[in-house]
Amino acid sequence: MGNRTFTMIKPDAVRGGHIGAILEKINAGGFKIVAMKMTKLSAEKAGEFYAIHKERPFYQELVDFMSSGPIVAAILEKDNAVEDFRTLIGATNPAEAAPGTIRALYATNVGENAVHGSDSDENATIESNFHFAGVDVFA
Ligand code: RTP
Ligand code: MG
Repeated sequence: MGNRTFTMIKPDAVRGGHIGAILEKINAGGFKIVAMKMTKLSAEKAGEFYAIHKERPFYQELVDFMSSGPIVAAILEKDNAVEDFRTLIGATNPAEAAPGTIRALYATNVGENAVHGSDSDENATIESNFHFAGVDVFA
């Protein structure tokens, strides 16, 4: 069980003015923010980040969306961080997300779903290193 996960507040939620509300949910969920920045992914960087989905039919749509505006990237700390954060954000499709979860509250649809959460400890480390230099992580 790892104690860190990586998240992005996606362009739809930033555009919708939900950064503050989502950070409140993250804090209320018991996560400590150990790194955070607002940034914008180029199409190339978005494609690299989601390369695992390259063969999926929604890949180009995902790359276009994730590079369509600013995001907020963060590293979060909590016991059992990966699993607990995915519980807090809810299912990929907001129509299936449990009531009160971040996606149920703020996501638009299955593609534009407000937040990213790492799916394993290994990917949490890879994704954190993709976005942050060690010097910008405050344990
Ligand atoms: P994420 O990686 O962003 O935390 O989302 P996830 O694990 O819940 O879902 P995943 O299967 O990894 O899919 C990554 C992102 O691709 C977009 N997507 N679009 N149009 C579609 O059917 C579809 N399916 C997935 C979403 O933005 C999803 O979060
Ligand atoms: Mg995923």
